[in-house]
Amino acid sequence: MPMIGMGTCCRRDPKGRREFISALEAFYATGGSHIDTAQSYDNHADVKQALSAMERDQVWVTSKVNMLAVTSHKTADQQVRAAVESSLIELGVDQVDLMLLHEPACENNWQREAAEASKQLLAATKGAANSSAVVVDDGINVAAASRCTVEAWRALVKQQHSGKCRAVGVSNFGVRHLSALLGAGLPLPAVNEVEFHPWVSHEQYRLVEWCHRHRVAVTAFGSFGSSRRVKRGNALEVPAVVAEAARVRGVSAHEILLAWTLQQNISVIPQTNSLAHMRSNLAVHEIRLTGSEIKQISTLGGSAYPKDWKEYGKIIHKLTVKP
Ligand SMILES: NC(=O)c1ccc[n+]([C@@H]2O[C@H](COP(=O)([O-])OP(=O)(O)OC[C@H]3O[C@@H](n4cnc5c(N)ncnc54)[C@H](OP(=O)(O)O)[C@@H]3O)[C@@H](O)[C@H]2O)c1
Repeated sequence: MPMIGMGTCCRRDPKGRREFISALEAFYATGGSHIDTAQSYDNHADVKQALSAMERDQVWVTSKVNMLAVTSHKTADQQVRAAVESSLIELGVDQVDLMLLHEPACENNWQREAAEASKQLLAATKGAANSSAVVVDDGINVAAASRCTVEAWRALVKQQHSGKCRAVGVSNFGVRHLSALLGAGLPLPAVNEVEFHPWVSHEQYRLVEWCHRHRVAVTAFGSFGSSRRVKRGNALEVPAVVAEAARVRGVSAHEILLAWTLQQNISVIPQTNSLAHMRSNLAVHEIRLTGSEIKQISTLGGSAYPKDWKEYGKIIHKLTVKP
């Protein structure tokens, strides 16, 4: 899988469709060869259009099964298979290079649905002893819920065996979820796509370490700091160590953050509409940070968090130093 890809999330404005397709085409023309999409981004048709102008074997396509839509009303196997098959049709490909379970989120649906079923059963039997068919813990069928993620993963592994997915993986899975897959005797995912930037928690660093130790590749989103995280803090400036690393190399702070991620053997998928940013993002593998810089950037989490993501983006952009 190419270590530098292009994200495609969340541009829903229909007027932006042409711009979006042009950006993917420009990314490919600039040498980019990895596109990250998902069922829930609702852009498979646009990705298909962009792919029609590309050599299929020259581009790596990652998509994701929308786990928020997986309910307990059908088997996980049926739903994951349907999600993969419809994604292939929407993308106009015979095989997707990497299909991920987008999040371990079906647990919530299954817990809610199991709780509702339990309530109905208890009401029907008026609490009679023969309600033991459902294991209720505070109204929640815990066993069914934790099975759901494992069953969805088992189903996705089957899709890989059927040849519809070249590789399979997960996204937003924690060590708890990955351990459950191991415990079920299933192969581990090829990739775990997670939020990763210098401001993530120690737990996220431990997750990356766990993945690498178990030979699960890691892809980062939110490389410049995500809205959820950056809203927690106070400072609105590029950390001095990032600014200095950018200044001495004549590159931007964004490039330094991507290089910092790549040098930890984590692939990146920044999204951009700008040709200049595409070019610089694709070239970040040429930037070599020193061990000391990597360490200093890695300890930023305990210090400052910019307040607002958009504001942070603007400020980090302003401070960009170009040759
Ligand atoms: N698996 C998941 O749950 C999950 C969650 C979130 C995102 N994702 C994936 O990750 C991708 C990235 O999303 P993200 O939230 O991490 O956003 P991001 O790509 O980190 O940030 C996008 C913003 O960064 C700017 N940008 C990109 N490269 C730049 C550069 N070199 N210099 C200056 N600005 C630059 C873009 O503006 P310009 O257009 O002006 O360059 C855009 O405003 C998504 O598109 C999606 O594919 C996955």
